[in-house]
Amino acid sequence: MKISCIGAGYVGCVTGTAFAALGYRTTIIDINSQRIDALINGRSPIYEPGLDILIKKTIGNTLYADYSYNYVSNSDVIFIAVGTPSTNGGNVDLSYVEIAAKNIGENLNPFGFTVIVNKSTVPVGTADLVTTIIEETSGLKNGKQFAVVSNPEFLREGYALEDVFLPDRIVVGSNSEKASQIMKKLYSKIVTREGFNTFSDVITLNRKCHPSLPRYYETDVKSSEMIKYASNAFLAVKISYINEVARLSDALGANALDVARGMGMDSRIGEKFLEVSSGWSGSCFPKDTSEFLLTSQQENCELSIVASAIKSNKEMHDYCISKAVRSLGTLNNRTIGILGLTFKPNTDDARNTQASYIIEMLLKNGATVKVHDPQGAEMFKSLNGHLDIEYCSDPLDVFTEAEAVMLLTHWSEYLYIHWEDAFKRMHNPYFLDTRNYLKDIGLSDIGFYYEGIGVPSHKQSVTTSAASLIKI
Ligand code: UDX
Ligand code: UDX
Repeated sequence: MKISCIGAGYVGCVTGTAFAALGYRTTIIDINSQRIDALINGRSPIYEPGLDILIKKTIGNTLYADYSYNYVSNSDVIFIAVGTPSTNGGNVDLSYVEIAAKNIGENLNPFGFTVIVNKSTVPVGTADLVTTIIEETSGLKNGKQFAVVSNPEFLREGYALEDVFLPDRIVVGSNSEKASQIMKKLYSKIVTREGFNTFSDVITLNRKCHPSLPRYYETDVKSSEMIKYASNAFLAVKISYINEVARLSDALGANALDVARGMGMDSRIGEKFLEVSSGWSGSCFPKDTSEFLLTSQQENCELSIVASAIKSNKEMHDYCISKAVRSLGTLNNRTIGILGLTFKPNTDDARNTQASYIIEMLLKNGATVKVHDPQGAEMFKSLNGHLDIEYCSDPLDVFTEAEAVMLLTHWSEYLYIHWEDAFKRMHNPYFLDTRNYLKDIGLSDIGFYYEGIGVPSHKQSVTTSAASLIKI
């Protein structure tokens, strides 16, 4: 079976390389020549643990990369994994998907049967749109020479290879029996875990127990498209919920980490996605929740719980700022350090991160801001050129003359900071750990005024209501 994958991003690169590692001849196609050149030279165009190794293993053998759509005419399966960003109004921008569909239509094999797979996160009904575009540009007939199916990605950045090779489930939405058979054959090696050892060395196997075999779940196209949005929005709701419990824990003196652990022991709740944070962010949850909510509002059946989670999530960002204000009294003319710009560790993806919102608010309130991130600083700077902040290559420099330092992203590098040195550099040793990541390394013993979120620390008398001090 021969594969094309349109898009060499966080989704396309992982998807294309994974199928090449499974032995399928795969060509990744992208309009971004830098990303294609990186692949041709055996380098990953994105930071994703293990992906570099897999690309080096497969490039020129089963993996290829191209700027053109030529290989589409030889392909049995074509994944569409191009970007689906949010428009300013919050709806999803499908223009890249439409362009990809048009290019596929112009290169489709008229004598065979090709499965076109929507891998990108797309609204319910997008498969119909792609079908129409391909019929119009190719003159071919849906169901005869091609079919469009939905096969949503469930990849967590930083763990994408693990999620592609060891998924909980593979969802395929198809209205064509022929396409369903082809997809089932394509995924058989993942479902049976055949050839597992060919890639097990590149997966950050952080699963505690031996993972169960994935479930292969077939449904109709629209239900498959809905599963993706419903899943991501639910995960966002779950995180917003535990973050609100953490805020209440702060007020009542409970320990939100113990609360989350006690909750997660109930298999109906589950232990994952109950980690307290400054809120969810990144290239998926914000766009997927706003698209899902807007669609529901347009259909007059608003997903009010999703709406609340979005509102609650922004309040969580503000809550973290207000904790710093409670300690400092004001942000005006204060120097604040930020550790972590990416939306989570183990990725260089700095799109739509909580850091950009929080830093903007700090600056608006008169603070001077110094930042560090091990992988994401370059992308963050390119996306946030308007922010007048100092980028530090050494995390220690973030502490110099600072009145407060906030950890936003729990990169493991931060465990190894020389904390005694960091303490000496600060004007005021306030440290807010929004991930409760460093709570056990003894920062208070060194002299920091260490605060987590939802975890009791020595009480600080609330000087004034912090909210009134922040210009929102
Ligand atoms: C994004 C979203 O993050 C994800 O939720 C969605 O499921 C797919 O789109 P990602 O891989 O992160 O996934 O996108 P990105 O890193 O922006 O990569 C998209 C790639 O598509 C880019 O390399 C871009 O150059 C390429 N592209 C875009 C094309 O090849 N052709 C186009 O017409 C438009
Ligand atoms: C998400 C979905 O998990 C994945 O299935 C989908 O395919 C794409 O979107 P991703 O955006 O890469 O993946 O990151 P994820 O690990 O889900 O984290 C999203 C945000 O939630 C991050 O800001 C993360 O820090 C935050 N988060 C996650 C929490 O605050 N608490 C948690 O317990 C988990």
